[in-house]
Amino acid sequence: MKVRAAIAVGAHRPVEIKTLDLAPPGPGEVLVKMKATGLCHSDLGILEGKLGRYSFPLVLGHEGAGIVTKCGPGVSGFSEGDLVIPSALPECGQCQLCLSGKTNLCVRQAMLPPSRLSYEGQTLGAFCGTATFAEYSVITQDRLTKIRPDAPADIVCCIGCGVMTGVGAALKTAQVSPGSSVAVFGLGGIGLSTIQGAKIAGAAKIIGIDINPSRESFARNLGATHFINPKQVEDVVGHIRALTGSLGVDYAFECVGSDVLSRQAVEASNHAWGKCVAVGVTPPGKTLDFNPMSFLTGRTWTGSLLGGERPRSAVPRLVDWYMDGFLKFDDLITHRIGLDDINHGFDMMRSGEAIRSVIVF
Ligand code: CU
Repeated sequence: MKVRAAIAVGAHRPVEIKTLDLAPPGPGEVLVKMKATGLCHSDLGILEGKLGRYSFPLVLGHEGAGIVTKCGPGVSGFSEGDLVIPSALPECGQCQLCLSGKTNLCVRQAMLPPSRLSYEGQTLGAFCGTATFAEYSVITQDRLTKIRPDAPADIVCCIGCGVMTGVGAALKTAQVSPGSSVAVFGLGGIGLSTIQGAKIAGAAKIIGIDINPSRESFARNLGATHFINPKQVEDVVGHIRALTGSLGVDYAFECVGSDVLSRQAVEASNHAWGKCVAVGVTPPGKTLDFNPMSFLTGRTWTGSLLGGERPRSAVPRLVDWYMDGFLKFDDLITHRIGLDDINHGFDMMRSGEAIRSVIVF
């Protein structure tokens, strides 16, 4: 079939809207008619060459919501008309990682299925195996989660990456405890969702840090008790420590992928039990250097991919929380655009004007 899609043709180049060929779903694969998809910083990172070498051309997009239109042979648990959320992390349920109960990783993550997309006979890559910047996408069933049919696709699509990552980082990876203090570095969709996760966990002090002053009101609405603009204070770490009675925060989240902020997150955390969580993706080639004494005393530094959550169990729960009004992220979706405006969407992400832009098909 023919589908309109945004093709990433190369690093530092605008994406191009083209009509592509999409082959029908093979065994274990599902044809999904995309209803909405969010623009995530990882997509932008690929376009800016910051996430390592990807072979162009490819179709980006990994934060979507859509309708099952056709199931390939051997697909079970999905039928036509189901509302589904794709995920960058598969869950085969059978590998050592899936069966361990200790991780949300799956061995199939590194094994991307052959892409069903092509343009003028040339196969196009499908980012994360999801390629949601297309009207239709063929996705393996282990990367799909069925959700309740009354959920608004143009909002809950953000659960698939940004919201699950941020909320999960606080609730699942760090397991923020009631009454604790938290610092969140970088208040994009993920950082703001981390703030909300910390609030749900019952943190008493939640400090949001961002150089964009317009993020303060968003942060406070979602539960931040303090906001620091590093452009306005000389010593960010000292400022955070002062807010927490000199010992530093119990939990620090780095949501940008910056070596400078990573170091600040460690230094701003309690030297005895501070838990530091890397959420942002650090560009390849960048290394983090820490004084080993930082950890000898009991601090820990850990990472959180997709909030440490298994999409199959987390996504339906987060959708329920949203539908019950418990989780709020309507405000994070600052712009709704058409597929043709995708480059403008990326521009608004670069400038900080948009928190999340959602493409509505
Ligand atoms: Cu993402």
